[in-house]
Amino acid sequence: MSIIKENFNEIYNKKTPLNYIISLGNLSYREPDFVYDVLLNKVDEVIKAKGKCKVIDIACSYGFNGAIAKYKIPYGKECLRKPRKKSLPCEVIGIDISENALSYANQMGFIDDCVHQNLELETVTTNNADKFKGADLIIASGAFSYISKKTLANIYSVIDSEPSFIGWPICTCDISEIISFLKEKHEIVDICRNIYPMRIFSNEQEKQSYQQTSSENNFHFECGFHDKLCVYKIHAGRRDNL
Ligand SMILES: C[S@@+](CC[C@H](N)C(=O)[O-])C[C@H]1O[C@@H](n2cnc3c(N)ncnc32)[C@H](O)[C@@H]1O
Repeated sequence: MSIIKENFNEIYNKKTPLNYIISLGNLSYREPDFVYDVLLNKVDEVIKAKGKCKVIDIACSYGFNGAIAKYKIPYGKECLRKPRKKSLPCEVIGIDISENALSYANQMGFIDDCVHQNLELETVTTNNADKFKGADLIIASGAFSYISKKTLANIYSVIDSEPSFIGWPICTCDISEIISFLKEKHEIVDICRNIYPMRIFSNEQEKQSYQQTSSENNFHFECGFHDKLCVYKIHAGRRDNL
């Protein structure tokens, strides 16, 4: 059984993220934000070591993670304004199928370049492959309901570096294929046993299917916020940089 998740496709391709932030804000999306500290700590670590950091953000949407990585702007209403501060030496390449969201992320400076391709269905074009060169980190939040191992395999087939990977799948998502793939590509794949609330449920059906799927499939989580839709964290990389 898999969770019957509310469909938010309608808000992913608007000119601005206003509807996204309001609709998901009503469900306490990313409050507190499970991405913010983890992403900034990693970016900081890479910048300290190399003087710069390059991030590939899968399903980047309106560039919320880019706003964090480049400007330390938290997810939410602050993402509706252009940043006034100087960017960290961090370059972000966003991948998404939503043209409007990518265009917004680009205009606001939350991402430096974008890949508007559905890598579930197609391979990376030569032009887009160049954009992934020298990546230090690949991230994926709010992504695993939409992408599978296919997208990852397409990205990893063209990268020329050894980036770390951090992803936050929903606890009920079966990502065993993705984990096997990451184990082939990285020395260590760490699956964090903690879980983090992503948002409250949008309706009773979603809640019931989440709780049922959770208890059927997710034996490795020791505790649970059964009143919230939760994610966990996967961190993959070299032994010396996890
Ligand atoms: C829940 S949003 C995630 C946004 C952001 N990463 C976050 O954590 O808030 C899901 C995003 O996945 C995008 N998406 C859906 N299918 C996709 C695919 N095959 N490849 C890339 N992005 C996709 C949607 O357009 C949408 O922007």
